[in-house]
Amino acid sequence: MAMTGKIYPRTGDQQTIYLKNVITNPNVEVGDYTIYNDFVNDPRDFQHNNVLYHYPVNHDRLVIGKFCSIVCGVKFLFNSANHTLTSLATYTFPLFFEEWGLEKEKVTQAWDNKGDIIIGNDVWIGFEAVILSGVTIGDGSIIGSRAVVTKDVPPYTIVGGIPARPIRRRFDEETINTLLRIKWWDWPEECIERSIDAIQSGCIEQLERNGEQSCLSERM
Ligand SMILES: CC(C)(COP(=O)(O)OP(=O)(O)OC[C@H]1O[C@@H](n2cnc3c(N)ncnc32)[C@H](O)[C@@H]1OP(=O)(O)O)[C@@H](O)C(=O)NCCC(=O)NCCS
Repeated sequence: MAMTGKIYPRTGDQQTIYLKNVITNPNVEVGDYTIYNDFVNDPRDFQHNNVLYHYPVNHDRLVIGKFCSIVCGVKFLFNSANHTLTSLATYTFPLFFEEWGLEKEKVTQAWDNKGDIIIGNDVWIGFEAVILSGVTIGDGSIIGSRAVVTKDVPPYTIVGGIPARPIRRRFDEETINTLLRIKWWDWPEECIERSIDAIQSGCIEQLERNGEQSCLSERM
């Protein structure tokens, strides 16, 4: 089960990868077990095909937590995509500095910087969804297929549409609070393995007990 260095978690399936193990860009961080599936392009080209307008000069970051499911065609649109709106023209003169006799160092004036994209743990991002710069998506959330996410998404919330709006919360408040408190995704691997029944059957009490009794003592 250990994922250290492994790219393909499923025998015979080269469309599904442990995303963390193909990341080379220091401004992209992905947690353990997070999956990317791509049946159009080679999923190993995620950084090139899915993380867009993400230039080192901006130092903006993509951070994705553990146990996320990133579906084919999801795009993360970074800050260089935001033609600045403080200018009287959307035409990016600073980008064509050679043409207009402008300073190369001021190229970043071509766009507005809205910040990093942060994705929590156990987030499922549906087919061809677009996540814009500056957005934080909370643990346990679901982004519907083809959503355009323009604002932060609270934990355990399903959103969809353009712009993405909340559809519903996944569980009652007490269950959500428990999940956010126990953070099962940070437990040791053996403990998660022992808790899969509780996770799948929706037994939050059992999951909580697992966390309190056995798993956490292993971490001491
Ligand atoms: C969002 C999603 C998870 C469904 O969640 P759900 O809570 O079961 O939603 P329901 O089907 O009960 O629909 C609830 C409402 O959300 C709307 N809705 C559902 N999916 C939507 C989407 N992707 N975009 C916009 N609205 C959506 C429905 O039309 C419905 O609207 P209404 O209340 O006005 O009638 C699902 O539709 C989805 O998009 N899944 C991603 C699938 C995918 O990309 N899989 C790839 C392979 S893993």
